[in-house]
Amino acid sequence: MVRHFLKDDDVTAAEQAQILALASELKAAPYSRRTFAGPQTVALIFDKTSTRTRVSFTVGVADLGGNPMVIDTGTSQMGKKESVADTARVLERQVATIVWRTYAHSGLEEMAANSNVPVINSLSDDYHPCQILADLLTIKEHKGTLAGRRFAYIGDASNNMANSYLIGMALAGMHVAVAGPSGYLPNAAVVARAQEIAAAHGGSVLVTTDAAAAIGNADAVATDTWISMGQEDEKEQRIKDFAGFTIDAALMSKAASDAIFLHCLPAYRGYEVTADVIDGDQSVIWDEAENRLHAQKALMAWLVEKSA
Ligand code: CP
Ligand code: NVA
Repeated sequence: MVRHFLKDDDVTAAEQAQILALASELKAAPYSRRTFAGPQTVALIFDKTSTRTRVSFTVGVADLGGNPMVIDTGTSQMGKKESVADTARVLERQVATIVWRTYAHSGLEEMAANSNVPVINSLSDDYHPCQILADLLTIKEHKGTLAGRRFAYIGDASNNMANSYLIGMALAGMHVAVAGPSGYLPNAAVVARAQEIAAAHGGSVLVTTDAAAAIGNADAVATDTWISMGQEDEKEQRIKDFAGFTIDAALMSKAASDAIFLHCLPAYRGYEVTADVIDGDQSVIWDEAENRLHAQKALMAWLVEKSA
C-alpha cells in the first residue's frame, strides 16, 4: 500500500527512528541509494515561496538518481483551473513521488487520496513535518539521543511548526514545551494527539503562555517567524501581540547551559530572536538547514521502498 507523509504521525515512532538512521547513513554516503534511478521524475509543487525546501528536494532527488521537476502553481493549471484530484491523476501516472507546499492541509489529503505514488507535505498551513525530521536529526547529532530530552518552542504556538513540533517531538519520546501569547496557542485536537503520543512513548507535553517556564532547562530551543506565509496582512497586529516572546540572551540563559538553538528559517532578527542568539555559539541553524537534504532523501527513499 502506498505510504504518504502529510503530518508527523503518518509514521510510527519506530519508523521515524528508521528514517533518521537512514538520514545519517545518507549524510555519510550521499550517493549510496538510487531510489529514483531511471531517472524517474519527482514533482515538487510550490503554492508558496521557498528557498530551503526547493533546494534540498531538488538536490535530494538528483542525489537519489532522479529528475526533480519544480512546478510553481502560478504557472500551472492547478488551483482555480483544475481540481487537486484531477491533477493527482495526471501526475501519478508519470512521476515517482509528489512533494507539495500549499495552504490548506485538506488539499494534501485530497492529493494523497487520489495518488498511488507517495505524497509528501513540504509545508501546509497546519504542519511542516519535513522540517521536524531535519530538526530531530540535528538534535540527535548534537545531543546523541532524542528520547527523554527537553525541547522548547517559543513564539507562534498556533502555527504549522508548533503543531509539527508537538507531534513529531512527542513521537521521538521527548519532553516538548510550547509557549506563545494567548490567542496563539495550538488547537485542542493537536495538543490531545501530542499528549496521547507522549504518554505512549515516555515524553510529556506542556502548552503555556509563560515563555520562561517553557524554556527552563531545555536541551534544545526553537522559534519561528511570528508571521507565517499567508498572514502578511496581520503583521502589525502580530508584532504587538508577540511582545515578550523574543528569544534573547536573557531568555536563552534559562535553558540548559549547553542547549542548542534551532530556527527553521527564514529568520527575522530582532523579532522572534535576537541576532546575538541566532548568530551565537549555541545556534545550529546551518546544520539544521543542511539536514533538510539528508532527512528528506531518507524520507523519499523510505516511502518509495515501503510503497513498493
Ligand atoms: N524552513 C523552510 O521550509 O524554508 P523555505 O521556506 O526556504 O523552504
Ligand atoms: N511558519 C512558517 C514556516 C516557514 C518555513 C510559515 O509557514 O511561513
